[in-house]
Amino acid sequence: MSPYLQHTLMHKDIPVMDIKVQNNTFLFYDIIKIYSYEHLPFGIFKKNDSNLAKLTGLYKWWSSRLIPDNRLNIRHILDEFGVSSISQIAIKSFGLSLIDHYWVKPKNSDLKWQNINFYDNPFSEEANNVFLVTGSGNRRFKNQGEILGIKTPDSTTGGALIKKWTNIDGIPCLCKFGHGFILQDTANETIASLILDKLRLDHVQYSLKFFKKEPMSVCPNFLTKNTELISAEWMLRGLSEGSDQYNYDNFVLILNKLGLTKAKARLDDMLAFDYLIGNTDRHRNNFGIIRDSNTLEPLDLAPIFDNGASFWLDIRDHDDIPLINDIRCFPFADYHSEQIKFITDFSRINLKSITDMENDFYNIYNKLINFPSKRIEAIYNGFKKRIKLLEKIIENT
Ligand SMILES: Nc1ncnc2c1ncn2[C@@H]1O[C@H](COP(=O)(O)OP(=O)(O)OP(=O)(O)O)[C@@H](O)[C@H]1O
Ligand SMILES: [Mg+2]
Repeated sequence: MSPYLQHTLMHKDIPVMDIKVQNNTFLFYDIIKIYSYEHLPFGIFKKNDSNLAKLTGLYKWWSSRLIPDNRLNIRHILDEFGVSSISQIAIKSFGLSLIDHYWVKPKNSDLKWQNINFYDNPFSEEANNVFLVTGSGNRRFKNQGEILGIKTPDSTTGGALIKKWTNIDGIPCLCKFGHGFILQDTANETIASLILDKLRLDHVQYSLKFFKKEPMSVCPNFLTKNTELISAEWMLRGLSEGSDQYNYDNFVLILNKLGLTKAKARLDDMLAFDYLIGNTDRHRNNFGIIRDSNTLEPLDLAPIFDNGASFWLDIRDHDDIPLINDIRCFPFADYHSEQIKFITDFSRINLKSITDMENDFYNIYNKLINFPSKRIEAIYNGFKKRIKLLEKIIENT
């Protein structure tokens, strides 16, 4: 048997390139022929790059699209499916995703995107449940033969937290478990959504649900079968030149290059919101733009998503919360007190709309078992303090 399988990387029904995939590792091994530079995954390589640079770009993109090594239950997932790499699970689901519209078609197959994508066709809820496994499971999918029939978008969804997609009323929804000692982040997502509702900022709506008594945050897919996400990480890789490529001004420049001149205001709103909730994790895969996957036209900044790492999540002792003045952040500065200085126009941020949320904080955190009320008090007081701090910054701008 040949050590390689030949596949075509597809963007919907447009062939992008023929590739060789290693039989045993299921990693991309070689690019045989490129059909469309226009439809390449955004930022992966340029036409005049060397063959090695192209292959490296392809490899990085494919790896970044798979469950990362820091996924909390990655060992369990591999064990449950009886495979040695996540790529192996992805390839069996044709590399399909609910975040972009790329997939890999086996050579000589006449499959069409319409007949396999997870917007028009069901995924396997049973397989997706495996991605929520935290303890030892029953290795239901351990045979290679069985995984041939497994259709899951979960192997191509990133992020460190344990998560799966599920279908609710015909809409794919992402369910995320929490992390840390009291799983506060699951409730943080819902509180963040409430704040964003009141601030009237475009965002993904999260709600707190339970799976076998374990809290999780659940949100609908904000993409459709005609729109896909390009993370800030890949935008910058594709369009940045120079060493200070990850700074604020350069990102705004890139938005302008893409014709998204109104997106700067939305970016600023997101940074101001992050300041308020003390978000420590707005890294470059936690924001980006949406593009039309048919015309490839950039449409807008993505709605605000993944806000769980906030409200002093990692501060174990709530007595320490009032002592913290500054908070570390991403992506454009190390501390929020620095990052907020990039914003020059706060006119869209109506702080009055969020000054009276005490009941909301208590109602939501109290849904978590044994969540100390002293901690809720400290968090709410901390949040009020941040509103005051931002008020002062706005006055002085
Ligand atoms: N509602 C959604 N619709 C479509 N794609 C989404 C949605 N929410 C998240 N994603 C995609 O899934 C990825 C992982 O989700 P998310 O960032 O919420 O997970 P996480 O585990 O909290 O991540 P991190 O490692 O940043 O903590 C995101 O980077 C984004 O590409
Ligand atoms: Mg994330």
